[in-house]
Amino acid sequence: MFDLFHSLSLSLALLLLFPFFFFISIAAQSNDTNFPGCFSYRCANINISYPFWRMDSETPTQYCGYEGFGINCSNNGEEDVPIAYLGDDSYYVHNISYDPKWIALVDYDVSPVVPPDVCPRVRHNIDLGDMPFNFWGQNVNLSFHFNCTGVPYFAHEIKCLSNPTNKSCVHSLNEEPANFNWTEYSCDEAVLTTVFDVFSSINALEPEFPRALRQGFELNWGRTEDCEKCEDSGGRCGYNSNTREHMCFCSGGKTTTGHCNGTFVKT
Ligand SMILES: *[C@@H]1O[C@H](CO)[C@@H](O)[C@H](O)[C@H]1NC(C)=O
Ligand SMILES: *[C@@H]1O[C@H](CO)[C@@H](O)[C@H](O)[C@H]1NC(C)=O
Ligand SMILES: *[C@@H]1O[C@H](CO)[C@@H](O)[C@H](O)[C@H]1NC(C)=O
Ligand SMILES: *[C@@H]1O[C@H](CO)[C@@H](O)[C@H](O)[C@H]1NC(C)=O
Ligand SMILES: *[C@@H]1O[C@H](CO)[C@@H](O)[C@H](O)[C@H]1NC(C)=O
Ligand SMILES: *[C@@H]1O[C@H](CO)[C@@H](O)[C@H](O)[C@H]1NC(C)=O
Ligand SMILES: *[C@@H]1O[C@H](CO)[C@@H](O)[C@H](O)[C@H]1NC(C)=O
Ligand SMILES: *[C@@H]1O[C@H](CO)[C@@H](O)[C@H](O)[C@H]1NC(C)=O
Ligand SMILES: *[C@@H]1O[C@H](CO)[C@@H](O)[C@H](O)[C@H]1NC(C)=O
Repeated sequence: MFDLFHSLSLSLALLLLFPFFFFISIAAQSNDTNFPGCFSYRCANINISYPFWRMDSETPTQYCGYEGFGINCSNNGEEDVPIAYLGDDSYYVHNISYDPKWIALVDYDVSPVVPPDVCPRVRHNIDLGDMPFNFWGQNVNLSFHFNCTGVPYFAHEIKCLSNPTNKSCVHSLNEEPANFNWTEYSCDEAVLTTVFDVFSSINALEPEFPRALRQGFELNWGRTEDCEKCEDSGGRCGYNSNTREHMCFCSGGKTTTGHCNGTFVKT
């Protein structure tokens, strides 16, 4: 395995000769020589490694990694911005830990890469769909209601999103009585989201929710069912979007639609 220093000094040597090579090799982190079809990258300060994969650099039809785990390393003109997708929504990738397995995400609309909004307005729920993700860590489910005719007693009015006729509010889902009927409040829209519990108290929800939204939430991940056979045989899962087939990248470089010949070794 190449370490960063060697790969950097190699890059530096190449820079003098071939500026183009420098550009390519600095984008890459150490690749696992056992899996020549599986690449690791660095995007901003995030490690993108299996089961995540970099969307904009893999061959467009085939990748080594889990379905839906693609990370778009886009550039906003100033810096690289790692973006993950859940459903149709974009999330800024704050951090990834491979052991234990978790990914820290921030709703892109309220993330540090967009101009800060003193009064952020969430636009969508977190849609995990059938992805193998679970919320991880100490979190709070925040329920937002916008443009209502009033604020129920257990909710906290968001003053900067309210006016004398239309009220917006936030509350922790735990504060809401069972079977509460929102009909009489005639809200325009309701959004449910999950954040790290960074609140000093439940009464501080209203002044502190913008900060909580910017810190985001963590998900841990498990394996997809299609993937188990491949990984248990020592391989890494992938997908070919052309043939719509699940792929298995085996140690040594073979790629199969089945599984490898080895047994699972935890790396
Ligand atoms: C890692 O893989 C990428 C993509 O093919 C390649 O450009 C790069 O040279 C590799 N890096 C190392 C350190 O092997
Ligand atoms: C990134 O991945 C490399 C190789 O797996 C590892 O050595 C390094 O510590 C990781 N860096 C971070 C910040 O996680
Ligand atoms: C990556 O993000 C950029 C900026 O949002 C977008 O233009 C591009 O289409 C995205 N790429 C992929 C593969 O989704
Ligand atoms: C990412 O998480 C690791 C492990 O918890 C931590 O040491 C590191 O500081 C975090 N990086 C960022 C940018 O938050
Ligand atoms: C928040 O909602 C998620 C998904 O419905 C659930 O798994 C989690 O346990 C809830 N968290 C709390 C603190 O209630
Ligand atoms: C409330 O409704 C008005 C008019 O439709 C809209 O402009 C405004 O953005 C809404 N406010 C919120 C917080 O959704
Ligand atoms: C209040 O909300 C209603 C319904 O969305 C909208 O038609 C109206 O313009 C809003 N009024 C104000 C003052 O925001
Ligand atoms: C909520 O209350 C309204 C009338 O205020 C009623 O028409 C509606 O059926 C109620 N919904 C539920 C789920 O109880
Ligand atoms: C598994 O072993 C068989 C027999 O040696 C060989 O034909 C096949 O190509 C191997 N498959 C993989 C994915 O390595």
